[in-house]
Amino acid sequence: MSFALPLNTHLIDVGPLVYGCMALGGDWGGGPVTEADIAQAHAAVEAALAIGVRLFDHADIYRRGKAEAVFGELLRRDAGLRARVRLQSKCGIRFADDQHVGRYDLSAGHIEASVDAILQRLAIERLDILLLHRPDPLMEPAEVARAFGRLKAAGKVGHLGVSNMHAGQMRWLQTALAEPLVVNQLELSLAKLDALDAGTTFNDPQAASRPGAAAWAGTLEYAQRHGVQLQAWGALAQGRFNDPAASPAAQAVHEIAEAHRTTPNAVLLAWLLRHPAGIQPVIGSGNAERIRACADATRIQLSRDEWYRLYVTARGQALP
Ligand SMILES: NC(=O)c1ccc[n+]([C@@H]2O[C@H](COP(=O)([O-])OP(=O)(O)OC[C@H]3O[C@@H](n4cnc5c(N)ncnc54)[C@H](OP(=O)(O)O)[C@@H]3O)[C@@H](O)[C@H]2O)c1
Repeated sequence: MSFALPLNTHLIDVGPLVYGCMALGGDWGGGPVTEADIAQAHAAVEAALAIGVRLFDHADIYRRGKAEAVFGELLRRDAGLRARVRLQSKCGIRFADDQHVGRYDLSAGHIEASVDAILQRLAIERLDILLLHRPDPLMEPAEVARAFGRLKAAGKVGHLGVSNMHAGQMRWLQTALAEPLVVNQLELSLAKLDALDAGTTFNDPQAASRPGAAAWAGTLEYAQRHGVQLQAWGALAQGRFNDPAASPAAQAVHEIAEAHRTTPNAVLLAWLLRHPAGIQPVIGSGNAERIRACADATRIQLSRDEWYRLYVTARGQALP
């Protein structure tokens, strides 16, 4: 299975696992990056590189810019680091402040200003992949295309992708773009099954109890058909399967981990990797030891029975 993204028109292998940088940069209060933030980020990034991660996922809002700022500091201090990583970031979410409500903004002006700020914080001249963080009801595809065209022509961004968009939104945006969308990053894990359930609730009398799934109908299929790399955020289910007594699904995760002599986190990632779409799990732990343990996910192969046992137990409803 290939995990090469079409960066720079030739394929560059980025590996099966992505590192999510939301846990870097200290608290969410803003303020300057500290030496303690830099030490934690350094340990996490080195752990991710050691397990073969090449693609690092950011967003302009993570820790209110401090996740990118601390990564930029790592790049300044280690001249060889830029060549070892591919960098992805997102824009389009604007937090509430004294004068504004929290909102989404995929206007050309906001996209272009956000990229300039991302490049400055990361201390780089070119971002490999820009993702539109969430759908904006006021988005106009032609306007996004013009903004991306200018960013691309200026050498500031390599490729465009999306996050949290369903098939219809990707298809609509793509109509205005000269280049293919390369990524869609969705929340997908044993704790968040909507994108998968969208394909299994067909003709199911219990489908009404899964209204969240309907919006995602055809999303995984669209991505596979059009070569859009799927990435799963929340891949470790934010630690919710840590305690085997927490739920029947957590117990199943622990039993399967024991059978494969690995950790529950590795089973959560292996479950995603088993899907034929070639989904890249995004690892969000800020803990170097936990990151290193994720390497096992690429070593183990879940059987069809194990995959379905986890899926059915986690969804809490039998199939068919
Ligand atoms: N596109 C989007 O809209 C979107 C939204 C959210 C996140 N993301 C991206 O996806 C990445 C991951 O997202 P995420 O942080 O929500 O999900 P995650 O990777 O599922 O969860 C990471 C969190 O779970 C904790 N954790 C993991 N395993 C644990 C365990 N065994 N026991 C206890 N705690 C455990 C981690 O704590 P420790 O740090 O202590 O290990 C960390 O706080 C982010 O870094 C970001 O890059 C994207």
